[in-house]
Amino acid sequence: MALLEIKQVTKQFGGLTALNQVSFAVEPGEIRGLIGPNGAGKSTMFKNIAGFYAPTRGDIIYQGESVAGRKPHSIAEKGIVRTFQETTLFQELSVFENVLVGCHIKSRTNLFSAILGFDRDKQQQAEEKVLEVLEFMGLVDRRHQLASELPLGSQRALAISIALASEPKLLLMDEPFAGMNPEETRQMMELTRKVQESGVTIVLVEHDMKAVMGLCGYLTVLNFGQLLAEGTPEEIRNNDKVIEAYLGGAK
Ligand SMILES: Nc1ncnc2c1ncn2[C@@H]1O[C@H](COP(=O)(O)OP(=O)(O)O)[C@@H](O)[C@H]1O
Ligand SMILES: [Mg+2]
Repeated sequence: MALLEIKQVTKQFGGLTALNQVSFAVEPGEIRGLIGPNGAGKSTMFKNIAGFYAPTRGDIIYQGESVAGRKPHSIAEKGIVRTFQETTLFQELSVFENVLVGCHIKSRTNLFSAILGFDRDKQQQAEEKVLEVLEFMGLVDRRHQLASELPLGSQRALAISIALASEPKLLLMDEPFAGMNPEETRQMMELTRKVQESGVTIVLVEHDMKAVMGLCGYLTVLNFGQLLAEGTPEEIRNNDKVIEAYLGGAK
């Protein structure tokens, strides 16, 4: 059974159709690439899956259950977590504190009562979880640094750490490689693979074709809100429609 099934999803903003009857399915354990030119509807698709928008029509089935139109916190509790295209780190908090915030999204304890020490057991569990995640993501030595002090690669790794703290089953990553140099890209590819190997299914929106083609077993291509093609990296690279709409111009 697919982990996630997108069924004929349409999303309209007033007169603009950002997604037009898009269907695809994501299998457990894969890294799925979701690609296409700017404005194709990739981020809109993520926002529909994560509950920030409700589809105008169509359905979103996660683990066999419809989640379309649910609130973001209810979807996050079920294990779907999105890392944002925009940087959403708390710049003035430390690396450790940023991930602690992620922990409390899942455990539903009151962050502030926890920080004030009202709930010692849960606080300690959360702190252990934070250290485990930071260790896993190679950030433990930077735990006392402010988010604002981190280089780009570590900022992105921190954004993923925050998501991992809430123990996702499905991680939606929106352009995690944007602006990275080749060395940062290489390290982020390694981290992404490591996250997959830990049992997290990933959908990756990304323009960096080296990263997408290197990480994803299967790609879904959107163009002007419509499904343009699906296939292996090899098939997509050689697909005339994709080359014309996207790859030809991009690279
Ligand atoms: N909240 C919104 N209100 C109106 N139009 C939107 C909104 N969000 C996205 N759009 C439009 O929907 C289309 C798809 O946008 P988006 O999903 O951000 O594309 P992508 O992420 O593939 O670049 C674009 O034309 C964009 O301007
Ligand atoms: Mg986008």
